[in-house]
Amino acid sequence: MANQEENLQSIIAHAKEYGFIYPSSEIYDGLSATYDYGPLGVELKNLIKAYWWKSMVQMQENIVGLDAAIFMHPKTWEASGHTSAFNDPLIDNKDSKKRYRADVLIEDWVAKQEEKNNKEVEKARKRFGESFDEAQFRSTNGRVLDRQKKIDEALNKFKEAMDAEDLNAVRELIIELDIADPVSGSRNWTEVRQFNLMFSTDMGSTAEGASKVYLRPETAQGIFVNFLNVQKTSRMKIPFGIAQIGKAFRNEIIARQFIFRMREFEQMEMQFFVRPGTELEWYEQWKEERMKWHAALGFDDSYYRFHDHTKLAHYANAAADIEFKFPFGYKELEGIHSRTDFDLKQHEQHSGKKLQYFDPELNKSYVPYVIETSIGLDRMFLAVFSASYLQEKLEDGSERVVLKLPAKLSPYQAAILPLVKKDGLPEKAREIFDDLKQDFMLQYDEKDSIGKRYRRQDAIGTLLSITLDHQSLEDGSVTVRDRDSMEQERIPIANLKAYISNRLH
Ligand code: GAP
Repeated sequence: MANQEENLQSIIAHAKEYGFIYPSSEIYDGLSATYDYGPLGVELKNLIKAYWWKSMVQMQENIVGLDAAIFMHPKTWEASGHTSAFNDPLIDNKDSKKRYRADVLIEDWVAKQEEKNNKEVEKARKRFGESFDEAQFRSTNGRVLDRQKKIDEALNKFKEAMDAEDLNAVRELIIELDIADPVSGSRNWTEVRQFNLMFSTDMGSTAEGASKVYLRPETAQGIFVNFLNVQKTSRMKIPFGIAQIGKAFRNEIIARQFIFRMREFEQMEMQFFVRPGTELEWYEQWKEERMKWHAALGFDDSYYRFHDHTKLAHYANAAADIEFKFPFGYKELEGIHSRTDFDLKQHEQHSGKKLQYFDPELNKSYVPYVIETSIGLDRMFLAVFSASYLQEKLEDGSERVVLKLPAKLSPYQAAILPLVKKDGLPEKAREIFDDLKQDFMLQYDEKDSIGKRYRRQDAIGTLLSITLDHQSLEDGSVTVRDRDSMEQERIPIANLKAYISNRLH
C-alpha cells in the first residue's frame, strides 16, 4: 500500500495531468504556494461554491450574500487586530539560511516522538497478538511513558512561552529539544521573531501621496464593516447572517501540502448575528448544521471529526474545527467560532460609527454577538478530491484510477460516446449532445477504443458514460454506464434527461 507521501504525490500528479490544478506560472518554475485551477478544476471549484451558497443562502430565509472588495481601509486591520497580532514566530538557520516557523519545528518534533511511540505500540501488538491491550501498554511501558512525558513537558513549555510572548523561551526550547534544521542538520539558530502575515501594497501614485493598503487576510472583516448596510437595506431582523465567498491572502511561511496552505486562497465565510446571551445555543446549532453539510456529500463519517478548542482567542467564547482526514492526516478544514461582540465593538471604536441593532422585541439597541462559520474553498477542494481519488483493482485483474466525486460535484455529468466513428453514429451522438447540453455539462469523445474512453471519463469523475451503437440507430436506445459501479443499462434516448437528473439528485 502506498504511504501518505506517495498518495499525496499521486493526487497532485493526477490533478495536473487532467487539468484540475497547475502550479502557478509554471513556465517560470512556479511560484511557491500559489496554484492555478485548470478547466476541470474551475468546474469543481464552482460546484463546491454553488453547493455552499445553496445551503447557506438560498435555503436560508435569514441569510443574505455579500461581495466586498479585497482592499479595505487600513484602519480595518487595526480594529480587527491583524496589524498588531496576526503573526507567526519565525526562526532562521544561520548555516542553511532557511527560515522556519518556530511552532512548526516544535510540532514536527512532537509528531516524530509520537510516531516512535506508535511504532513501539505496533511492535508490541504483533508480539502479543489478540490479547494486546494498547491502553495498558501505553500506561506501563517505560520507554513510551518517558517519551510521552517529554512530549507533554515540551508542549507545556511552548504554550507558556507563547502565552507570555517570550520568544527567547521558544528559542531555548528548540535548542533544549535538540531540533536540527531539517535540510542541513545544523543547530545554529537565530533569535525567534514575530512576522506579520499580511501582504501590503501601495494605493495611489507617489505624487498623490500613496498609502499602504493590505490584501485582506480573511473575508470576514468585509462583512463586519457592512453589517449595518446589509441589515438596513435587506430589512433583516436578528438573528440573521451574511455570507461571502472570496479571495484572502496570507504570507504563509510554511506553505506545504499542495493547496492545503496557500498564499492566495478563497474562503467561504458566514457571520451570523444574534442576541447577546443566545450565542452559545447558536454556536451549537451551527456546529451541527455545518457537520450535516459535510456529511451530505456521502463520504464515510470517519473522514470528519470535531476538534474543540481549549485555548480560545481573546475575542472568542467557544470555538471548534471540523477536521478532515487529508492524505497527511486529520487537519482543520473549517472553523466555527463564537466571536462575541468583539469585531463590531472594535469597528465602532476605530470608526467612531455606531454598529448597533435596535431590537423591537426588547425595545433596545445592542451590538449583536456573532457566530462565524469559515471554510477554505481550496481546502474543501483538496478534501473532496483526495477522498474521491481511488486506484481500484478490477475483477479481471486490471486497474483503474477513478474519481468517485459526489454526484453533485462531478464536473461532467455525462459523456456522449459513439461506439465507432462511422455509420452515422457520430451524427446521432452530436444530436443527443445538442439536445442535452442546455441542462448538463457534457463531454463528447469519439477518439480511441471505448475502453480507453471509459477510463478517461473515470479519471475525471464523469458520472455517466452514454454509448451509442448500431442498435441505437434502429431502436433509439443507448447504453448508460455508471462511473462507480461500472454497471451498464440500456435505456431509450427519450429518457436520458430524466435519467441523468435522477442520478444527480
Ligand atoms: N475569519 C476566520 C478565519 O479566517 P482561519 O481559521 O484563519 O479563520 C478559516 O481560516 C479557514 O480558511 C480555515 O479553516 C481554512 O480552511 C482556510 N485557510 C486558512 N488559511 C489558509 C491557507 N493559507 N490556505 C488555504 N486555506 C486556508
